[in-house]
Amino acid sequence: ESSTEIDIGAIQPGQAIKAVFHKQPVFVRRLTPVEIAEANKVDVATLRDPQTLEERTKKGKEEWLITMGVCTHLGCVPLGAGEGEVKGEFGGYFCPCHGSTYDTAARIRKGPAPKNLEVPPYEFTSDTVVKIG
Ligand code: FES
Repeated sequence: ESSTEIDIGAIQPGQAIKAVFHKQPVFVRRLTPVEIAEANKVDVATLRDPQTLEERTKKGKEEWLITMGVCTHLGCVPLGAGEGEVKGEFGGYFCPCHGSTYDTAARIRKGPAPKNLEVPPYEFTSDTVVKIG
């Protein structure tokens, strides 16, 4: 079982990068304070796949949102990590295949996808390196 180490030191708030884990895209996103606030103000009970941002990030590292870049509908790669401002109406990711729209915690908010973008197993090995897997 291989893991992937990603240098996150150059990622600014509001930016996201794509990496590869198990031959699949993974998104590493550094949330802005506004994006964190937007995620936290959502009533989780209204969500299709109810999860808080806190549950989807590591304690004390809530600005780092690390998810698979694989739409939970039929597996396309959503836009919003490295395509500029193509984030969709909920500010997170937008899947161009059938329009699934994810919020700033990468939770499904609109469109056919049944689940939030999956959070892979990961840990911070330093302040600037995260190990996926
Ligand atoms: Fe993403 Fe269908 S694969 S909306």
